Amino acid sequence: ISHLQTTWLGQNLHYFEEVESTQTIAHRLAREGAPSGNVVLADHQQAGKGRLGRSWFSPKGTGLWMSLLIRPHIPLTSVPQLTLLTSVAVLRAVKQLVSIPLHIKWPNDVLCGQKKVAGILTELDAEADRVGYVIIGIGINVNQQEEEFPTELRTKATSLRIEAQKALSRKELAIAILQEWEKLYGLYEQSGFGPVKTLWEAHTCSLGQHIVARTPHGQVEGIARGITDEGVLLLEDGQGTMHKIYSADIETLS
Ligand code: BTN
Repeated sequence: ISHLQTTWLGQNLHYFEEVESTQTIAHRLAREGAPSGNVVLADHQQAGKGRLGRSWFSPKGTGLWMSLLIRPHIPLTSVPQLTLLTSVAVLRAVKQLVSIPLHIKWPNDVLCGQKKVAGILTELDAEADRVGYVIIGIGINVNQQEEEFPTELRTKATSLRIEAQKALSRKELAIAILQEWEKLYGLYEQSGFGPVKTLWEAHTCSLGQHIVARTPHGQVEGIARGITDEGVLLLEDGQGTMHKIYSADIETLS
């Protein structure tokens, strides 16, 4: 990408017209020893991956489908922080290009109103309790028109074009995200998670809400009270017990 003003992130960029998933390619690069900051981008994913084993709708030519390879020197328990950092970077980058209301739904969905415009999938390779590398997948619905979404997604998903009523440059958006990500990560390396946590909290709609969290181990209902310094969600149930939610599907109850 020309005009990319980063020092390391995305300086090694692999672009493909069509892939199964940019995540798979990034994992392969990582296993082959590619350094931190390599980025994989594709115009079309045949088998885009979402969180919790779901698939991710990744049509040709309209979205931003990108994976970052990062080799962070952090403990395993801090990896959720990177996911939250990424959602803040995505939100801030989008806001540089269009002025639409956006907020973050824990852990990392970027929504406009009730509808999702972006999702983040963090996958990790760990050796013992050390992080080998992390692949951070970012999927953004940029230029889809409403009728391009499968019917079952239309009530849940939207694109920046639908919301802003104009098409956006995916290249400019990718550049903005990479620059914002590198900047936030610099802050994170220097000052820890605190400042990023503050930014995340300022942009989230999840705190104080009555929610149900469906986790791989069962479901918990309660009020979202905050996130821990690790980036884990704190959910207080009806008995006043605080639960730590590491990974879940969140539904807001009215
Ligand atoms: C979610 O379920 O919200 C996460 C979606 C992540 C999608 C992105 S698109 C680029 C990267 N490659 C994939 O296969 N998935 C991620």
